[in-house]
Amino acid sequence: MKYKILTIIGARPQFIKFAAVSKELKKIKGIKEIVVHTGQHYNKSMSDIFFSQLNLPTPKYHLKTGGKSHNIMIGQMMVKLDKVIKDERPSLVLVYGDTNSTLAGALSAKKNDIAIAHVEAGVRNYDESMPEEVNRYITDRVSNLNFCATKNGKNNLLNEGYLKYVQYSKIFLSGDVMYDIFLDTVKKFSEIKIKKFTNNIIHNDFILCSIHRASNVDNPKILKEIIDSLNIIHNEVKVLFLVHPRTKKVISNHNIHTEVILKNPIGYEETLFALSKCKYVITDSGGLIREAYFSRKKSILILKTALWPEINEEKCSLNTEPKKSNILSSFAKLKKLNSSFKKKIFGKGNASSIIAKEIKIFLKRNI
Ligand code: UD1
Repeated sequence: MKYKILTIIGARPQFIKFAAVSKELKKIKGIKEIVVHTGQHYNKSMSDIFFSQLNLPTPKYHLKTGGKSHNIMIGQMMVKLDKVIKDERPSLVLVYGDTNSTLAGALSAKKNDIAIAHVEAGVRNYDESMPEEVNRYITDRVSNLNFCATKNGKNNLLNEGYLKYVQYSKIFLSGDVMYDIFLDTVKKFSEIKIKKFTNNIIHNDFILCSIHRASNVDNPKILKEIIDSLNIIHNEVKVLFLVHPRTKKVISNHNIHTEVILKNPIGYEETLFALSKCKYVITDSGGLIREAYFSRKKSILILKTALWPEINEEKCSLNTEPKKSNILSSFAKLKKLNSSFKKKIFGKGNASSIIAKEIKIFLKRNI
């Protein structure tokens, strides 16, 4: 084996992205992939289910660093990753998205002078209070290969002086690996196998909802504003709320009154199935908002600024602040939106193969 790639993942959306790229890396001779799970997400429904549904290999390393404050989590990840990197001496470290696992993986590689590839680079929403925004720009800045899912991501990096001042960092417009795996999965999922989870809801129109961002849930007053608005919307269209553990804690600790249908997190196939059957999506997830677009569903993103502005430009999604009146008026507007889902914002479904090929070229030239 000529080249060793160390893939670092740890949070729910990263398992999905890893599934797409890993499949393509396997097709390339001379590359061996070693996988590290940081343990950031650890519940069965937040981690194991993705490994079984997507046929992912058991990671060689599991760092068990979840359930801690951000600094402690990142610090512990870095201590453990430092040893893994020193033991494995990979040719390249591969990271995904914008979580604490992404940042810890990229910094640990940089401090060991290992090349870094970052999938989903260039995402910005210019809100520094979001921990993800910091993770994004630091990871982009230390990465040698930055793979952008959309033109907007690439432009963000160019506007920040990449190529001009950050010369060692190469930028690629690869398309979105989440779109690749979405296309792959919807082709083959078995409706019968996964139908049971939504019971009778799928017979009616319903809104698929998930809220988990620290800025929306950690302050119970803000979460209450969001849930109050969902309770009202629920009287008109049923709301199926998939409750992240972070959100669940705040709802129960503060006795927030809910009328919506609450459900624990579900697997990847079930999510795509629910998306295929729902009428609208309300979320603060950068992943679900894209999957809503792939599934041709109109959506509301409960964040001040867009994560994927191209979806808003196509009139398929609205952004709103986490206030009851804003959410309700956005919902009224959403219903009237004349949306077009035609534009191929996220590429052609071949992002993973572009990424695997560019990594191979980079390794051959540089390592
Ligand atoms: C993280 C990412 C976010 C991503 C999300 C996907 C960061 C800064 N944030 O947010 O970008 O959109 O994952 O879901 O990395 N918890 C459990 N069980 C689990 C996982 C988490 O109980 O399996 C609890 C933790 O103990 C913690 C809370 O949920 O109290 C938050 O988890 P954490 O990993 O810090 O961030 P997320 O909110 O999941």
